[in-house]
Amino acid sequence: MSTPLPRLTAAEAASLIHHGDSICFSGFTPAGSPKAVSLALAERAKALHAEGKPFKVGVITGASTGKSLDGALALADAVSFRTPYQSNADMRKSINAGKTRYFDMHLSMVAQTLRYGFLGKVNWAIIEACDVTPEGEIVVTSGVGIAPTACRLADKIIIELNANHPAALRGFHDIYEPLDPPHRREIPVYKPSDRIGSPVIKVDPSKIVGVVLTDQPDETGGFDEPSEITKQIGQNVADFLAAEMKSGRVPAEFLPIQSGVGNIANAVLGAMGLHPDIPAFEMYTEVIQDAVIGLIRNGKLKFASGSSLTLSNDVLKSIYDDIEFFRSRILLRPQEISNNPEIVRRLGLITINTAIEVDFFGNINSTHIMGKNMMNGIGGSGDFTRNAYLSIFTCPSVAKGGAISSIVPFASHLDHSEHSVSAIITEHGIADLRGKSPHERASVIINHCAHPDYRKQLNAYLDYFPNSHTPQALCAAFAMHQQYAKTGDMRGVDWARLL
Ligand code: COA
Repeated sequence: MSTPLPRLTAAEAASLIHHGDSICFSGFTPAGSPKAVSLALAERAKALHAEGKPFKVGVITGASTGKSLDGALALADAVSFRTPYQSNADMRKSINAGKTRYFDMHLSMVAQTLRYGFLGKVNWAIIEACDVTPEGEIVVTSGVGIAPTACRLADKIIIELNANHPAALRGFHDIYEPLDPPHRREIPVYKPSDRIGSPVIKVDPSKIVGVVLTDQPDETGGFDEPSEITKQIGQNVADFLAAEMKSGRVPAEFLPIQSGVGNIANAVLGAMGLHPDIPAFEMYTEVIQDAVIGLIRNGKLKFASGSSLTLSNDVLKSIYDDIEFFRSRILLRPQEISNNPEIVRRLGLITINTAIEVDFFGNINSTHIMGKNMMNGIGGSGDFTRNAYLSIFTCPSVAKGGAISSIVPFASHLDHSEHSVSAIITEHGIADLRGKSPHERASVIINHCAHPDYRKQLNAYLDYFPNSHTPQALCAAFAMHQQYAKTGDMRGVDWARLL
C-alpha cells in the first residue's frame, strides 16, 4: 500500500530551498510553469535579504515563464543564474543590468546538457501537475519543457497540483527521454502524431517532498488582433508556400509546419488557414498558440505536436470544455523531442520564425537589440532553422515607427547564419535566398523586403563594391546602428564619408 504524498503550503516548500541551490522548473512558456512556490521563494529571498543574508538560486526552465516565476524572482534579486529563455520585462532588466548571469541555449539541448552534467547538480525540480499518484506518476499540465529530465536528475521534487487544469489531461503528453551517447538510437518519430513514450512522468515517490495545492490560470499574455502589417506578412508567407507547392518544390500532400512565437506567428497561421491553395496540414512545433486551435476546429489543421498549449485563458478553457475532441488531435512532448534536430530534418519541416534584424546576406539576429541588450533568447529557432526543409524568417521592415530598418548591411548579433536561411519575408515582399550569391541576396533582400524609405540608402551601399564576392566594408558595416545611436534614426547615413 503506497503512502499518501505529504501536503505543504507554498511557504513551507520554499523554506526547504537553500541559498545556492539549482532549481529546474516544469512548463514551457508560462504554460505549465509553477506559480506558487516561486512566488513564496521570492518572498523568502526578500525576507532574508532584509536580514542581511544572501539568498539566490539558479533557475533553469523549459523556456519563458510567467510573472510569478521570472518576474517575482527577478524583482526579489533572487536569481544567481538563468537559462535558457525568458521574456519577462523584470527578468530582462535584471539580465541587461548585469545583475542576473544569463546564458542562452538552444531549447532542444537543455535536457541533455543537464544530463551530461554541464550545468552541475540539480537540487530541486518544481513541477506543475494536474494529477499525481502516491506511486509517483505525475501528469504535467499545459507545458512539458524539461520536466521529465528535471524529475529524474533532481535530488528532490516539489509538486504544484493545480486544480485549474483537469486531471483528464492524462493522455495528452508523450514523455520520452533519449539515451545519452554512445548509446543513443534514432528517436522513432516518423510523423507528427507518432507516440513513442508514456503519458506520465514516473518518479520514485520518496523524492517527492510535498504537494502544494493551487488553483491558478497560466500567466499567458494573450495575443493582439493582427495589424495591417502582420496580416500582410502572413499573406506573403502563405502565398510563398502556395507557390512552392504549385512548383512542385513542396510535395502536394504538404509538409509539417513549425511556427514561432508571438503575434506575427499567429497572423501567419491565420493566413495559411484562409489560403485556398494550401491543403489541410500538420504541425510539428514547440508552442501551440491560439490560431492553431481555430485551425484544428475548422479542419485545416489535422494534428498539432508541440511542447505547450500557450493559449489565451479563454481558448485553453474552450479546449478543456471539449477535451475529447482535442485528445486525438494534440500531443505535448518534452522540448528535447518537439525541437529535436534529427526529427526536424527527417519530417522535412517548413519553419517560420521571427527576426529582430536581418542583414544583406540573410544572417539573422533573433535575440539582441543593437548588438547589446538581450531580448528573449534564441528559443527553438536554431533547432528548427538549421535543420528545416525550408526555413523562413519574417519581420516587419522597420521598428520604432520607422526609425530603425530591420534590414541592415551587417547584423549586430548573429543567431542564424546565412547558410541556414531559405527566405526572408516582410510586409513588402519575399526574398528567396536559395542558390543566390551574396550580391544577389543583398539585392533581393533590399528590393523586395526593405521599407521603401530605406531602399535608396541600402542600395547606395552596394554601389561601393561592384567587383567583389561579398559587398561589405568593416569600417561601415554598423554605420546605420551608429547613426541611430547618435540621432535616434537610421536614415541619412553618409556612406561617402566612410567608404
Ligand atoms: N532594432 C531594435 N529594436 C527592434 C528591432 C530592431 N531591428 N526590431 C524590433 N525591435 C523591437 C520592437 O520595437 C519591440 O520593442 P518594444 O517591446 O519596445 O515595442 C521589440 O523589439 C520586439 O518586437 P515585437 O514586435 O514585440 O516582436 P515579437 O513579439 O514579434 O517578437 C522576437 C520578436 C524576435 C523578439 C521573438 O520572436 C523572439 O524572441 N524570437 C526568438 C526565439 C524564437 O524565435 N522562438 C521561436 C522558435 S519556435
